Amino acid sequence: MAKIDITILNLFARYGLPFLIGYVILFHLWKPAYNLMKLKILTLALKSYWTKVYACNRKELEQLFAPLHEVAQEDEGRKETKLRVMEIGIGEGANFGFYPANCEVFGVDPMSAVEDKLRKNIVKHDGLELKSFAAVGAEDMSHIDDDSIDAVVCTLVLCSVENPQKVVSEVKRILRKGGIFVFWEHVHASNDKRVARLQWILNRVWYVLFDGCHLTRKTSEVIQAAQFTTHDFSTITLPVLSVISTTLFGSATK
Ligand SMILES: C[S@@+](CC[C@H](N)C(=O)[O-])C[C@H]1O[C@@H](n2cnc3c(N)ncnc32)[C@H](O)[C@@H]1O
Repeated sequence: MAKIDITILNLFARYGLPFLIGYVILFHLWKPAYNLMKLKILTLALKSYWTKVYACNRKELEQLFAPLHEVAQEDEGRKETKLRVMEIGIGEGANFGFYPANCEVFGVDPMSAVEDKLRKNIVKHDGLELKSFAAVGAEDMSHIDDDSIDAVVCTLVLCSVENPQKVVSEVKRILRKGGIFVFWEHVHASNDKRVARLQWILNRVWYVLFDGCHLTRKTSEVIQAAQFTTHDFSTITLPVLSVISTTLFGSATK
């Protein structure tokens, strides 16, 4: 059966203005219908994005998660103690395949509808156990103690959060000393003026279409300002739509 790919962009290409107007009306007036549609659209859009990235940049993703594997191996005692990993904006758990075995996973994501699929997904990954899921924004993870988490994972999330500074400061609070924060985010294309201009033009429409996602975030500055003990990141251009192709891969240690 032919694969039906109906990402939001295809819908927009097919139905243009009526689709856009309908979507904006749902966004502003009829939240429950908008939320349902948002989940479907996000799932489809993410699926096609991830498929491309898996195909072309799997090596970079494996490298991104390498520090988690190192932390897991560092301490011999870890054979008995599980690695405590918090994933913010966990969604349905697209990253689980990259985790080391033997992890206790904590998740936050304000979209409560993801929980069902998340729970079904995690049992497919040996050695991962979902310790807790909270349908809250990562700006307030007060249900997690200070210095209690070994690693925080964050992929394609800081573009959508309301307050990235607050999120990164919460990440730093919950990490133990020496704990690691790994992130992969699409960011402002500061190295390409043409794309940066396009991001600026499309930003507002994109925000409405994709659940509050910003195209122009300078995430590296936010992470640098948080003053982790060390940080290390690089910008990689992915073979996807130009406005979301500039991405920041990296890690920071508390
Ligand atoms: C583009 S999806 C990425 C999902 C997953 N991390 C991935 O890489 O497939 C963005 C996710 O961030 C979540 N999100 C939005 N605002 C958030 C916030 N303030 N705190 C935590 N997660 C948030 C959304 O609900 C959504 O699940």
